[in-house]
Order: sequence, then structure tokens, then C-alpha cells
Amino acid sequence: MRRFLLVATCLAGATLAQAADAPGGEDPSILPAGQGQEEVFYACTACHSTAIIRRSHFPREQWDGLMDWMTEKHGMNPLEGAERTLIVDYLTQHFGPRAAPARGRNPFLN
Ligand code: HEC
Repeated sequence: MRRFLLVATCLAGATLAQAADAPGGEDPSILPAGQGQEEVFYACTACHSTAIIRRSHFPREQWDGLMDWMTEKHGMNPLEGAERTLIVDYLTQHFGPRAAPARGRNPFLN
């Protein structure tokens, strides 16, 4: 966290305006299209890029727990109610656990 703040402070002067609406030059289309895409993008990129999300594959309970962790440890605005459901649903649908390798399954019959 301390390192993060330091980096954020250094970058702030030069790129604050830019970083505020396009963290790391990303926009919502970097995430898979679907309901919740924009909500996730704007709720989650205040502090880090989407890379940390895109490389993750968690079951629903873990995404849900991460929302509390991000709030308690890192000061994210608490996500509650319908918005939380939308965001956790989106994350689970697009960044859920990887399916087990479908060995022996006919790829043409999927
Ligand atoms: C208030 C700041 C803040 C917000 C907003 C935020 N995060 Fe984070 N998040 C962090 C910090 C800080 C870390 C730790 C980064 C590190 O370890 O380098 C982190 C780490 C993570 C990780 C990695 C966890 C792990 O154990 O590998 C994931 C996944 C993640 N965030 C997802 C999200 C998602 C999804 C959202 C939006 C719902 C979000 N974050 C919003 C601050 C935030």
C-alpha cells in the first residue's frame, strides 16, 4: 500500500486529469462485454488497472469476499445491494474458475 501511494503521488502531478477517467489508458471495452461491464470498470479502476482482474479466476464466494477485503483494507467505497450483486455476478461470469480441461470431449459438439 505504501509503495502504491508513493507511485500514485509521483504520477499524480503529471497525469492526474488523464488518469482520472482512463486509468492506464484503458476504457471499459477492455473488459468482456456484458451486463455490469461499465460498473465494474468504473468501480474497480480507481486504484488499479483491470489487469489484476483479468488475470484472476475466482469462484463467486471469493469475488464476494474480495469486495469486503478491498473495502476494509484498501478503502474502496463499500459495494452493497443491487450494485454489488451486478458486479459480483459479472466477475463470476467472466472471471470465474477456469473450466477443467475437457479431455475427450468432441470440440465440434460443444
Ligand atoms: C480503493 C482502492 C481499490 C479499489 C476501488 C479496488 N481495489 Fe482491488 N486492490 C486494491 C489494492 C491496493 C490491491 C492490492 C494490490 C497489490 O497487491 O499489488 C488490490 C488487489 C486486487 C486483486 C488481487 C487480489 C489477489 O489476492 O490477487 C483483485 C482481483 C482486485 N483487487 C479486484 C478488484 C475489483 C474487482 C474491484 C472493483 C469491484 C477492485 N479491485 C477495486 C485496491 C482497490
